[in-house]
Amino acid sequence: MGMQADGKVVLVTGANRGIGLAIVEEALRRGAKKVYAAVRRIETARPLVEQHGNVVVPLHVDLQQPETIASAAEHASDVDIVVNNAGVLKPKSALEADAVDTLEFEMSVNVYGLMRVARAFAPILKANGGGALVQLNSVASLLSFPDFATYCASKAASYSITQALYHTLKNQQTQVLSVHPGPIATDMAREAGFEQTSAGPEVVAKALFDALAEGQFLLFPDPFAQQIGAAYEGFAHNVVIPGVGEG
Ligand SMILES: NC(=O)c1ccc[n+]([C@@H]2O[C@H](COP(=O)([O-])OP(=O)(O)OC[C@H]3O[C@@H](n4cnc5c(N)ncnc54)[C@H](OP(=O)(O)O)[C@@H]3O)[C@@H](O)[C@H]2O)c1
Repeated sequence: MGMQADGKVVLVTGANRGIGLAIVEEALRRGAKKVYAAVRRIETARPLVEQHGNVVVPLHVDLQQPETIASAAEHASDVDIVVNNAGVLKPKSALEADAVDTLEFEMSVNVYGLMRVARAFAPILKANGGGALVQLNSVASLLSFPDFATYCASKAASYSITQALYHTLKNQQTQVLSVHPGPIATDMAREAGFEQTSAGPEVVAKALFDALAEGQFLLFPDPFAQQIGAAYEGFAHNVVIPGVGEG
């Protein structure tokens, strides 16, 4: 059995817009006791505080600045559910001149950011009884889209780290959930020029808390993602979830 949001303390990175904002709102709808809105610029969390009052606590977190993650962990020592949602995408194919620079940037946020968050918060989750770590990955973690080659590579790497965390954090009763949306209607999708989106951010947020409550490791929340998830299911359940040497 997994974890309900009701009565829990939740932290969300990239909480000010897009999928992160929808996750904050869904956590509050489900009765979260407190939500830490982790944002790059504190003023961007102001509308959330104005709407919800002091149940929302803004925290400064820039995934490229490790000291902000360490400082957030000191402040949020009561957290039960950490959702690492923040991420970046720059449309870039593999052969473009600055593809390596773009991949380095996307790795620094999408992969090293996850590793920093996991390292800072794992001891806190353990001390609080286990809790949960949720990572926003993507269908791009499993499938490369050539016009977004560097982003897909970074999301494949973040999924790989998420798998490692799933197996490692089991030992301290921390639940790990890997979320793999398809194209979702946010600024990221609009700026990347996705022609069609599969769902709105609220669909991801609702499915995320349902999956946490059910104790799932993998979530494919929207219709586009579910097609990829269905094709991947056998490998996931026979190989990824049992883990090498554990099955
Ligand atoms: N939208 C999609 O189609 C889609 C599909 C699959 C997966 N995802 C994943 O879902 C997550 C959320 O995506 P979204 O569509 O909501 O994106 P978005 O609308 O572009 O919002 C991105 C969020 O990440 C924050 N952020 C960016 N760089 C950061 C950094 N260095 N440190 C901390 N926060 C940072 C942004 O803060 P600022 O406002 O300060 O820039 C913003 O809050 C991402 O991990 C993305 O890869 C999205």
